[in-house]
Amino acid sequence: MEKFIVDGPAKLIGHVMIAGAKNVALKALVASLLTDEDIIIKNVPHIRDVHLMLEVLGHLGKHAALTGSTVTITKNSSHTCTVPLEVGARLRTSSMVLGPLLSRYGKAIIPNPGGCRIGARPIDRHIDGLKAMGASISYTSDDGYFHAEAKELHGAEITFEKNTHTGTETILLAAILAKGTTTLHNAAEEVEVDNLIDLLQHMGAHIKRTGKREIVIEGVSSLHSAEFEIMPDRNEEVTFAVAAIASTGDITVHNSRRQYLGAFLEALTKAGGGYEAIDAESTRYFYKEALTAVDVTTEIYPGFMTDWQAPWALLMTQAKGESVVHETVFENRFTYVEELKKMGARITYFDPDIKNPEEFYNFNWNDRPVDTHQAIRITGPTNLHNAVLSINDLRAGATLLLATIIGSGKSYLYGIEQVDRGYEHIEKRLCALGAHIDRVTEDAIS
Ligand code: EPZ
Repeated sequence: MEKFIVDGPAKLIGHVMIAGAKNVALKALVASLLTDEDIIIKNVPHIRDVHLMLEVLGHLGKHAALTGSTVTITKNSSHTCTVPLEVGARLRTSSMVLGPLLSRYGKAIIPNPGGCRIGARPIDRHIDGLKAMGASISYTSDDGYFHAEAKELHGAEITFEKNTHTGTETILLAAILAKGTTTLHNAAEEVEVDNLIDLLQHMGAHIKRTGKREIVIEGVSSLHSAEFEIMPDRNEEVTFAVAAIASTGDITVHNSRRQYLGAFLEALTKAGGGYEAIDAESTRYFYKEALTAVDVTTEIYPGFMTDWQAPWALLMTQAKGESVVHETVFENRFTYVEELKKMGARITYFDPDIKNPEEFYNFNWNDRPVDTHQAIRITGPTNLHNAVLSINDLRAGATLLLATIIGSGKSYLYGIEQVDRGYEHIEKRLCALGAHIDRVTEDAIS
C-alpha cells in the first residue's frame, strides 16, 4: 500500500487535460458484453476501477487490450456468467453485468455489491426492474452472491420510485436485447446516462428519450461492433476548478464540458470564484477575490451533483462566513469532515428540518445509520495546517489531497488507492501545476 506525503501550501497554476469520464467508461465496458463483435472505446481513463472492470470482462469471456486511452474488446473464449467474489467486492459497478448476461445467456451470478463508505448503496431498484422484465433473482447470504435467471427477458413498463443513475443504466442494458418494448419512467437524466445511450445507439440499439425522465427501448435481436469516444469527466473538472481557486491559483482546463456544470458554476460565481470560457472545450478557473460563503444542496441532474459536495466544502473552509452543505443523495457522504477538522477546519453537523424525509432524500430512508447527519455548517476562512489523514472514499480522497496542498506544513495521506480509483495519475498532474506530492510506500519514513 502507498501514501502521499504533501508539502503545503502551494499555488496551482497551469494547464490540465481532463480525462475520460469514469462513470461512463465503466458502463461502456459492460455494454461490450451485449455483442460478440469488437467494441473500441476511446478516451478511457487509466484508473483503478477501469482496470478492475477489464478483469471482470476477462472472467466473462472477453479480451480487452488497453493501448493509450483506447480499449479494444474482443471475444476471447466461451462466455461464463459468474463474477468472482473478490473482484466483484472491489468494484460495485460489476453488478451491472446482470442485464447483458441475463438478456444473452439467461443467467448471471454476481457478488452483492453491498455498501461502501458513502452508504448502503443497495441495488433494490435495479433488481425490481429486472424482475419486472421476467428475471428471477435471489440473494443467498451464505455465499454472498445474487443468483439471477431469465428464460427470456421481455419488455416492461417500469417506474423507479426514486432516481437511480446506475439503476437506469442497468435496465437500459437489459432491455436492449429483451423481447418487446420497455418504457422507463422517472429515469435518471445525468449526462453520463445520455453518453451511454449514445454508445448503445452506435451499437444498433433502439433507445430514445421520449419525455421528461422517460426512456423507451425497443428490443432488437443483436447488436454490432462500434467505435466510440466517451465524454470527459465532469467530476474531474470540478476537482481541478476547486484546486485552482482554493489554492489562489489559475488553471486552464482542456476537454472542458462547462455546459454540464451549470449548478457548480452558478455557486462558484456567487462565492466569488473566477472562471472564463477560453473556447468551446477550454475553461480557465482562477482566484479572483476573497471568497464568500455560499450554501449548496446536492440534487439529481441538473442540480448540484453529490460528487461535487466534498470539494465544495473544502472551498467553503476558505470562504468568509458560514455556509451549509446539505447532502440529499447519499446517507453517509461526510467521511472527509473529521479529517478536515484535524487540519483546523471549523465544521459542525446538523439535520435540516425536512417535512417528509422518506420522500425528500434520494436514498432509502431506512438505510440511514442512526449516527449520521445530512448537513454540515462550515465557518471560514480558516488557514488549514498539516495533519495525518485517512481517505475513505473517492471524492473525499481528492478533497483531502487538495486540502493538504493548500494547508501549511507536511501532511501524510493514507488510503490513496481510493483516489486512484477515479483520478488518472493524480499526483503527476497536480505536481505539474505546482504541488509538492510524493507517493511512497506506507511504511516509508520521511
Ligand atoms: C452513480 O452512483 C455514480 N456512480 C456516483 O458516482 C454518483 O454519485 C451517483 O450516481 C449520483 O449521480 C457510478 O455511476 C458508477 P444512484 P449510483 O443509483 O448509480 C440509493 C463517484 O464518486 N439507491 O443514483 O450508485 C443509493 O444508495 C460515484 O464517481 C437505492 O437505495 O447512484 C443512493 O443513496 C459515487 N437503491 C441513491 O439511491 C437502488 O437500487 C442514489 O443512487 C439504487 C440506488
